[in-house]
Amino acid sequence: MGFTDISRWKRIIVILFIAATVYSFLPLIPFWFMEGAGPDDNNQANVEKLRDNRGAYFSFIVFGDNHAGLIFNDASTIKEIWHMNREDRFWKVPIDFVLSAGDITLDGKRPHFLAYKKLQKLIKFPVIAAIGNHDDRQLFEEFCGDKEFSFSNRNSYFIVLDNEGGQLGESQFRWLEEQLRKGQEYDHIFIAMHKPPFDPCQQEWYNMDNQPWAYRFRKLCGRYNVDMVFTGHKHMFKHERFDGVDNIVTGGGGMLIEIPEADGGYLHYVRVMVNHDYVTYEVRKISPPLWEYLTYYLGKEAMYWFRNLYGSGYIFGRNTRIERQRVAGLNDCEYWLWK
Ligand SMILES: [Fe+2]
Repeated sequence: MGFTDISRWKRIIVILFIAATVYSFLPLIPFWFMEGAGPDDNNQANVEKLRDNRGAYFSFIVFGDNHAGLIFNDASTIKEIWHMNREDRFWKVPIDFVLSAGDITLDGKRPHFLAYKKLQKLIKFPVIAAIGNHDDRQLFEEFCGDKEFSFSNRNSYFIVLDNEGGQLGESQFRWLEEQLRKGQEYDHIFIAMHKPPFDPCQQEWYNMDNQPWAYRFRKLCGRYNVDMVFTGHKHMFKHERFDGVDNIVTGGGGMLIEIPEADGGYLHYVRVMVNHDYVTYEVRKISPPLWEYLTYYLGKEAMYWFRNLYGSGYIFGRNTRIERQRVAGLNDCEYWLWK
């Protein structure tokens, strides 16, 4: 093989690589021009669609933190949706609905909600969403409907809670316990809300584990035999068990992920399967579109690799001093004295 042959192959490989990168961008173009789902395609309406489901063998999908309204996020979510829509192939088990654990928008602006409604339309199953801390409360009601509600599907009871503010209040606990009592008539109870009742990424500044509501919530779930609690907020996958309750953090629905892949920082959704008295789940890890891998994810992992040469830890965290000060309610002077 001559020298010119090698350079010709190199050129072909480069051209194929560029073509694959451009191809990975294409799904965004029709997305920009499409119409979204209507505001009446909301939580209440989608719960109604489950009414006639029968049998005790079914599946549902959970994702979180798609943060619609940023090109990087939407491209990843579109790719995830392509996979979600194929989950019912082979007609093995019906996929009854898709549940979002909140942060459906980048930052709660109207255009972000409009982008979310397009994503919702791309999902071929009914979508039910919890509110996240990035979703404007009024606009969420306008586009998605109820923020706190419960519903039944086949042999299971589902409770959706609104804890975007960071905790659950006294009246919410009363309502939750009422729902948990109702849920005893079913084989399974599932809860969805945005913020996890524990720390899925303990090296981060945000600390939930030692908050009284979180402990109380976990104990309550244990007492009433909740099967699974789905949350998002942290852009990662994490599974923990408290008092026999599976706690699943699924915040990999599209938002640019800042946590290292090795710690659970990857794009994914979760598919849950209920078979009479059994509940199982699978994590569907989705690779980002090639253009996004090259412009962000490759660099993110490289940063952690370099970071680990001389230290370790989470690089994208907020300024620790400012956050500690904020949490403790101290001004600059008090902080340094306290320190
Ligand atoms: Fe988020």
